[in-house]
Amino acid sequence: MSEIEWKPKRNSRQSLTFQIVTYMKKKILNGEWTIGMKLPSQRKMAKQFDVNRSTIVSALEELVADGFLQSKVGSGTNVVNNTWSLIASSPPPDWVSYVKSGIHEPNITMIQKINEAEADSKMIRLGTGELAPELLPVEDMKRLMQINETETLFLGYEEPKGSLTLRKTICENLKRKGIDVSPASILIVSGALQALQLISIGLLKRGSVIFHETPSYLNSVHVFQSAGMNLFGVSIDHEGINHEEIGVLKKQHHGALLYTIPSYHNPTSILMSENRRKQVLDMCQQESLPIIEDDVYGELWFDYPPPKPIKANDHNGNVLYIGSVSKSLSPGLRIGWLVGPEPVIDRLADIKMQTDYGSSSISQHMVQKWMVSGMYDEYLAHVRKELKKKRDFMLDVLNSYYSDIAIWEIPKGGFFIWLQFKIDISIRSLFEVSLKEGILLNPGSVYDKNDRKHLRLSYSYASLQEIEEGLIHLSKIIRAKEHC
Ligand SMILES: Cc1ncc(COP(=O)(O)O)c(C=O)c1O
Repeated sequence: MSEIEWKPKRNSRQSLTFQIVTYMKKKILNGEWTIGMKLPSQRKMAKQFDVNRSTIVSALEELVADGFLQSKVGSGTNVVNNTWSLIASSPPPDWVSYVKSGIHEPNITMIQKINEAEADSKMIRLGTGELAPELLPVEDMKRLMQINETETLFLGYEEPKGSLTLRKTICENLKRKGIDVSPASILIVSGALQALQLISIGLLKRGSVIFHETPSYLNSVHVFQSAGMNLFGVSIDHEGINHEEIGVLKKQHHGALLYTIPSYHNPTSILMSENRRKQVLDMCQQESLPIIEDDVYGELWFDYPPPKPIKANDHNGNVLYIGSVSKSLSPGLRIGWLVGPEPVIDRLADIKMQTDYGSSSISQHMVQKWMVSGMYDEYLAHVRKELKKKRDFMLDVLNSYYSDIAIWEIPKGGFFIWLQFKIDISIRSLFEVSLKEGILLNPGSVYDKNDRKHLRLSYSYASLQEIEEGLIHLSKIIRAKEHC
């Protein structure tokens, strides 16, 4: 059962129990709640409906007595019947078993919990990898959205690789990073994540092995695993992924691809050095191992820009380069780009056409306006400055309250501080306890299932006040050792 907006009316003549029973019956009768579906705990429902637990108990008892629900000790309450199923000659579809057999793997439970908690506006989000609403350029966007009489606006389907005008503009932007490509080598996608999705289904065989940094953002999404691939972690040091290990592992495990985030890596914020970029490219060329270079944080540098992307030195078509406006302008536009050899881009454009017939033409139009007007560059300069202030503030709070219990590096860009605890602590129970206290964390295990000692902190989303309050409160929870 996902988030419920509805709540019983307190000023109604009908009792709260009656209203809840009626609401639930309707959900079951119209098939929104299917047979076999498990209801949340009584405590959770009481919170969602804003009533006492005893009201929930009475409502559930009534629905059990009417035969709609069944409660079993230890396994909770499930929908077991709807009146249609009683009168129909053949049983309704068993949606629960369909849901279980879907090809795509579900999110890991911790991420499902994080996604759910993010809907609570009171939550202090100390790990969210997103720009704060007040950092997003809402007023400028409103102004740019006013389309004047002389401006052309295309509302049809765009061509398979996306708007040519936008691809030309992206080519110009990429030139400044040393990447010299033509629009034919670019595919506009609905965010960087879609680029990964297309690569997973369009280029690789089931059973392929994907190398990535340990830890990695890639572990927090199930894109490659759902397409039947295996992920394999490679170690990372202060200069980035270990290129020598890549060579050894390629031979041992027949790796099909390397996925890397060289600039302001998620979750560690490590910036791959210029030298390491060359070494990684050389090693991968030598081993015939294609690279996916994910550069979604590359624009978010603080004191100096990152070294040129790996793609800038790729003269053999070894690298698929991914960019996006999600971390720098607006995740809601859902616009990213994939740069690679033409046959790859043609193949993935063909799959994209079969998947969604192209990304939103209006979003593409907006990104084009931002970029070509110069406003994107201006806004980036502003975001870098603001993010740096927030980084410094978080570092100050950490220095005051965490220096005896944790260590961290100073990020040179991006969103994250990879906090490593020096003390023995259960991050899982810290996550649970903090969640109950209104603080949402991103444990390191989301990015490396074996991790037991890190938190991914982010200064991008929470306000300065929330960062201070949240981190001070968290340090108290940690010190009240009985919880952890
Ligand atoms: C490294 C990395 N790649 C890709 C994405 C997804 O970006 P988009 O919103 O453009 O799909 C994220 C978002 O968290 C990310 O951190």
